[in-house]
Amino acid sequence: MAGVHAAGVPAAGGPAAGGAALRGTGLYRTHRRGREEVHALRGVDVAVAPGEVVALLGRSGSGKTTLLHCLVGWERPDRGEVTVPGARSPGEADWSTLAVVPQRLGLLDELTLADNVAMPARLAGAPDPRAAALAGLEQLGLGALADRLPDEVSLGEQQRTALARALVLRPAFLVADEPTGRLDQELSVHVLGVLRACADTGTGVLVASHDPLVVAAADRVVRLSDGRVVGAGDGGDAAGGQPARSAG
Ligand SMILES: Nc1ncnc2c1ncn2[C@@H]1O[C@H](COP(=O)(O)OP(=O)(O)O)[C@@H](O)[C@H]1O
Ligand SMILES: [Mg+2]
Repeated sequence: MAGVHAAGVPAAGGPAAGGAALRGTGLYRTHRRGREEVHALRGVDVAVAPGEVVALLGRSGSGKTTLLHCLVGWERPDRGEVTVPGARSPGEADWSTLAVVPQRLGLLDELTLADNVAMPARLAGAPDPRAAALAGLEQLGLGALADRLPDEVSLGEQQRTALARALVLRPAFLVADEPTGRLDQELSVHVLGVLRACADTGTGVLVASHDPLVVAAADRVVRLSDGRVVGAGDGGDAAGGQPARSAG
């Protein structure tokens, strides 16, 4: 069985204990569809320390989303270990410990942007979910749209709403799957500024992306190819290494 196991730290919900990293070690994951097997991860090691922004690069199909899903406990690796500081397993981590911006966003169509963003705070029993949601929307330039439904705003606005939702509990770690994929350059720069501000308050940020702006804004780059890590380095150095491709 997959070794997703305890990080050896006490209860969920606190900040990353003692600067420990969100970590995946020796991760393997094969997707099976009938007789077809896709080896999406073939022994991936990745770590994100509190306060750093790590860009996860790779072409469409290289395994980025599968890796993020394993780190947040939405998929189980066939082999390897995931440790989430502050939680016994990724699946048990609440959104103050480890929050996600999914590639397909996962906003609830029936709820306003404010109610979508407030949801993690409501579920966590935080004191004033609506105020926290409005502040988060404001920070991402969406204050005026708070009472609209997701269908009534653009895809880029939906994307920023999903980011505001992920940040509403000030998570110790944030995992974001192509969070600038639907944004123009100006908005991307704004969103990257918000991610940097989070990192400056101690959040460890892992961003899957093809976007050269994300690479330039990252402290470090981890490059995936065909389910393996093929390169790692500083954000700036790796920016030109691979042609941008359509979102994966
Ligand atoms: N649920 C699934 N069933 C079968 N194959 C999958 C599934 N999810 C992803 N894959 C395959 O795994 C590989 C990695 O996909 P993914 O992790 O989504 O990569 P990326 O996010 O880098 O585009 C791709 O070949 C993809 O088609
Ligand atoms: Mg993907």
